[in-house]
Amino acid sequence: MTLKVSEIQPFARGGNRLCFVHPEDTGRCIKVRRPDFTLEDLRRKKGFPKNLKPLSSFDDNAEEYKVMTALHKRLGEPLYQLVSRCFGFEETDMGKGLVSELIRDEAGSVSHTLKQVIWDEGYTEECQRAVGEFIAGWNALGVPSRDLLVHNIVVQRCLDGSIQRLVVIDGLGSSSILPDFLFPQSYFIKKAHRKTENLRERINILLAARAKGEFPGTHGLLMHEGIQTGK
Ligand SMILES: Nc1ncnc2c1ncn2[C@@H]1O[C@H](COP(=O)(O)OP(=O)(O)OP(=O)(O)O)[C@@H](O)[C@H]1O
Ligand SMILES: [Mg+2]
Repeated sequence: MTLKVSEIQPFARGGNRLCFVHPEDTGRCIKVRRPDFTLEDLRRKKGFPKNLKPLSSFDDNAEEYKVMTALHKRLGEPLYQLVSRCFGFEETDMGKGLVSELIRDEAGSVSHTLKQVIWDEGYTEECQRAVGEFIAGWNALGVPSRDLLVHNIVVQRCLDGSIQRLVVIDGLGSSSILPDFLFPQSYFIKKAHRKTENLRERINILLAARAKGEFPGTHGLLMHEGIQTGK
């Protein structure tokens, strides 16, 4: 059955995808390609020589599904302490959508990104501790990822407002064209350490911008209202 999402407000918009609460399950979200930024647009933007690659290779949803299936096989249940679950594709009236676990605070609202939390509150001791725990878990498991971006990690809170955990909701996988099984675990562990070091640098860059009062951009902010799917 085709899910109707075109008439509901997305709760967020990334550079590539619109995110809707799943119309039949409030514990899940469904992500579709932004109609205003098609795969053709994305390929054009990449320029030569990347624009020689087939259109399908630019599809974030397809890539995420492939990566999540492989990671589930290799790492199993412990992965989901750190990463949102992926449930596969469903047809929508805006094209194929990828369904995943919607990370909500215990009180019910959709969790804010690490970017928004640090921007709003500064880098509190509690948040530093949560980042430390996240990094330790990420390094120990050796989860392959592209750069860990502050708008691709959400901060899930308990009912009393304290931080429960950090969860990655986008940006998994690697740029390598070789399959994961060709590499030893030590390779992934080392790579995870590099990515988490880089996350610390990104947090510092965000803090420096915050100190200067520079606007961090709307990327990673939830859109509670007023977002138009066609723009
Ligand atoms: N599973 C989720 N749980 C909670 N919030 C989410 C979830 N998935 C996405 N979001 C929110 O939606 C925003 C955009 O989603 P996402 O990062 O998947 O889109 P994208 O277009 O792939 O992003 P990018 O610009 O990084 O390519 C996130 O920054 C986050 O605020
Ligand atoms: Mg994203």
